[in-house]
Amino acid sequence: MILAIDQGTTSTRALMVSETGQITPLVSLPHGQHYPQPGWVEHDPAELLRNIDTCIRAGAEAGAVAIGLANQGESCLGWDARTGTPVGPVIVWQDARTSDVIAGLEAAGAGDEVLQRAGLPLDPYFSASKLGWILRHVPEAQRLASAGRLRLGTTDAWFRDRLTGRFETDVTTASRTSLMALDSCTWDAELCALFGVPIECLPRITPTTGMLGGSHDLPLTASVTDQQAALYGHGGHRAGQAKITFGTGAFALAVTGPLVRARGVLPTVAWQLDGADPVYALDGGVYAAASAVNWAHGLGLFRDYDDINRFDGRAIDRGLAFVPALAGLACPHWDRAARGAWLGLGLDTGPRDMMQALLEGVALRTGEVISAIEAAMPLDGPIAIDGGMTANPYFCQFLTDVLGQDTRRSDEAERTALGTAALAAQGMGLTLALPTAGDVLQPKDFDETGLARFRAAREAVSAFGATLPG
Ligand code: G3P
Repeated sequence: MILAIDQGTTSTRALMVSETGQITPLVSLPHGQHYPQPGWVEHDPAELLRNIDTCIRAGAEAGAVAIGLANQGESCLGWDARTGTPVGPVIVWQDARTSDVIAGLEAAGAGDEVLQRAGLPLDPYFSASKLGWILRHVPEAQRLASAGRLRLGTTDAWFRDRLTGRFETDVTTASRTSLMALDSCTWDAELCALFGVPIECLPRITPTTGMLGGSHDLPLTASVTDQQAALYGHGGHRAGQAKITFGTGAFALAVTGPLVRARGVLPTVAWQLDGADPVYALDGGVYAAASAVNWAHGLGLFRDYDDINRFDGRAIDRGLAFVPALAGLACPHWDRAARGAWLGLGLDTGPRDMMQALLEGVALRTGEVISAIEAAMPLDGPIAIDGGMTANPYFCQFLTDVLGQDTRRSDEAERTALGTAALAAQGMGLTLALPTAGDVLQPKDFDETGLARFRAAREAVSAFGATLPG
């Protein structure tokens, strides 16, 4: 039995995974989401660490032989190397406090160089500008840096430092910082200088699997970003195989094998097995997916999730569109200033129409991401889909229609845990079976007019965003 820990944006969960891929959930611990200013999103590092520790204890008691750890990508922090005390909160991947820094770098013409070296566009999403912010704005971080005691890293580096005593990060998470040279998988001195991050404060980069230290007498044998873990967990290991996970955001990843660069989508490390070369993927995200549905629930637009499972016709065909840019537009537009909107409202529009358009908007944005990936590489279908929103049959069919190709809806909700455990098994030299069951959906006709209408709506929110202050 392997203990898979899924440390995600909203909770930390421990699951036991057997060698046949049977999953037993052990613990699920939600953590606080803190929004101290508009656009800022923070977590408490001590709370996350406590939750992981609870998961490890539960796994040890349940007879686990090894730990696999999946972490939210990009979220990062600083801490004292000597005492382990954080210098501030975790700055979460959704946090846009560094938008002005990014705009400044953009204006200075740094975009091409960052794209060339890190493979990533300039955006506050990635850790680099957040880590630079910590050093510029937190006096304790400056004091520790002068004393040679500052550690900066993504959350996995924090957990691994505190739990295993080894200040290390895995290569998939490092590839999301915008500080790593994507072809050599080493920290890039030029990028570190550009973002104001002292290279000596960063952790050692390790492969995704192997003997990575231990905690509570259990070896850590895999450490990986959660989205990459889900890709592995779907069994998508060949070039062209792709998955989309509909969690807080919607994240699509497609295996490329070798490094493939493409404008608008993110080349990223999918995994690096111990002793092997890195395997690359193309990645693209929609920042607000289930978070948009939950936001609308909070507004009172619907009561039960079952109430938005079925609709007649399509809202986009009736002229109603929703652009889920509640936290800006990510891949392939990279427009943080954009904000969400319904377009096409009439006196006859009701909450149910608005919810239908919202679900469609998430699917249509996901369609833009998949098109951008397909512009660089053909996909080898069906595209695997998972996450909470795939429990909604209307959403899944509409998505399949928009994508114009087969999708396979996973009947196993815990793909991240499966992938994490399978990687942890690899790290011990073992193989874990990955069940690939799920129903395959086939696309129905989708009118090009719908796509054109959505594009017009999306362009409108960008144009509006450009008029907003800073
Ligand atoms: O890039 C952010 C992603 O890793 C977060 O995933 O599942 O924690 O919302 P999740």
